[in-house]
Amino acid sequence: MTNHEFLTRRDFMNDVGMGTVALLAGLPQAQAAPGMQGGSDTFEPDVALELIARPHNVSLRPRRATSVWSYAARVLKGDPASVQALPDSYLGPILRLRRGQKVRIDFVNRLDQPSTVHWHGLHVPDTMDGHPRFAIGPGERYRYEFEVRNRAGTYWYHPHPHGHTGEQVYFGLAGLLLVSDDEEQALPLPRGQYDLPIVIQDRSFDDSNQFRYLSGTGPTARGDASSAPSAPGNTMGGRGMMGGMMSRGAMMSGGMGGMMTRMMGFLGDTILVNGRPDALIEVSTHPYRLRILNGSNSRIYKLAWQNGRPLTVIGTDGGLLERPVHKDYVMLAPAERVELWTDFSKDDPGMQLTMMNLAFEGAMGRMMDMIGGGSMGGAMGGSSLAAGARFPIFTVKVARKANGSLELPDRLSAISWPRLQDAVNRAKPRTFRITMAQMQWGFNGRSFEMTAVAPNEVVKLGTTEVWEFANDSGMMTMAHPIHVHDQQFQVLERRHGAGSSGERDGYVDQGWKDTVLVMPGDRVKLLMRFADYPGLYLYHCHMLEHEDLGLMRNYRIET
Ligand code: C2O
Ligand code: CU
Repeated sequence: MTNHEFLTRRDFMNDVGMGTVALLAGLPQAQAAPGMQGGSDTFEPDVALELIARPHNVSLRPRRATSVWSYAARVLKGDPASVQALPDSYLGPILRLRRGQKVRIDFVNRLDQPSTVHWHGLHVPDTMDGHPRFAIGPGERYRYEFEVRNRAGTYWYHPHPHGHTGEQVYFGLAGLLLVSDDEEQALPLPRGQYDLPIVIQDRSFDDSNQFRYLSGTGPTARGDASSAPSAPGNTMGGRGMMGGMMSRGAMMSGGMGGMMTRMMGFLGDTILVNGRPDALIEVSTHPYRLRILNGSNSRIYKLAWQNGRPLTVIGTDGGLLERPVHKDYVMLAPAERVELWTDFSKDDPGMQLTMMNLAFEGAMGRMMDMIGGGSMGGAMGGSSLAAGARFPIFTVKVARKANGSLELPDRLSAISWPRLQDAVNRAKPRTFRITMAQMQWGFNGRSFEMTAVAPNEVVKLGTTEVWEFANDSGMMTMAHPIHVHDQQFQVLERRHGAGSSGERDGYVDQGWKDTVLVMPGDRVKLLMRFADYPGLYLYHCHMLEHEDLGLMRNYRIET
């Protein structure tokens, strides 16, 4: 397809799309818009939403507004509180769903490049999971339909097109998806204004207040052939990623610096919270539920209160823990969530408390030895704020007195864990080694292929398995947060190797997880069950530059 045809089609679809949205809401699927992909004839939604990804401007700093990509949503059917917009933020609205609800989300792509939406942490059929093979082009629509089967918890949604996930998330496409259920509703947890979402991201700005990422990316870049490699149906071979990147001008767009940023992961020099810089959050003298998502592309945080107050952890990626856990600090890698019970009821009005990133070493592992010393860490990530530097993230200020209080429950949830003795491969775990060869990340030496699976990437529906991720091979290792789609898994074991850097007290392995940080030198064993849905799902590193460079593979669940 030539560039010209591409644009013509997009404009046409935009026009059609705009005018027919309202009409579509009340029509049965059989009469849905021509060009709508996904969906089924028989699905009866309790909640129907429309979710649009489009260019937008948001005022983040004095003077010039920042050009971003942003999700906008509205409720077409069902509870109007299912969508909660965040004014003055580029972040997408908070989607609030209940377990057992049947949800339809009509996604409209008004970007100038292909996209999909992934419901991070949710257990959904593979055609509804946002896999890059279902990317839709500019102006097109995709109907996502699924039943919410997950426990109450803090999930999120973001794009997942091949090769452009980092770019699309960075320029603003991400939002929280909060699920509630009866067990959670019955608990005396902080609600309403006392239930605070906190999305932490790092960005860099240029002199005219625009986000700075890899050059040639984002809403202000001219649409050109560089967006073609992620078009639907493109099935780059295993060796194609670096080749493709080089051939579309990596040397010109950022040169070796751009290449190194992709290899190491992008680090911004400004911390944004809920899409705003310099976050000061006013609270009352009351307990709070802080739902923290690390929505950064590649930055890992070591979270701790500045004055040493312990962190009371009540939840992880897949919802509430069985019991609260107290930590001096918590490691939070990209895509991980942690929920804290934070009680300000005994604090004096005026008190301020800052959530810090504590200094830590080792995330860059032996990459830095290879490249020339730890002080290069930040520069290599394109940032003056190095990986593992100490800096403030947000400040909470007690601004008013509140009436009433809550007691932290001793028991939060009853969890029925899968049993290790039920794992079909407990004697011989499936091992995925993170490898690096010829400037190419991979699992067991393979990088992403659109639809292919290797023999060790096929599992059986209805079985339980142990998967081991090993980050201890080769000359070049660095930290990687590993995410497995369609799963909430249990972390069985962490083995710290010779090159391991520690930070061991900061993992919350007591809860359900969908993303696990594997530090250099470490091996992590996970227990997971492949239930309900057969199909092709992804596992990958959630440092988005690594994912885009091919540190991602499919696995297939067979009946
Ligand atoms: Cu949050 Cu495959 O991603
Ligand atoms: Cu990685």
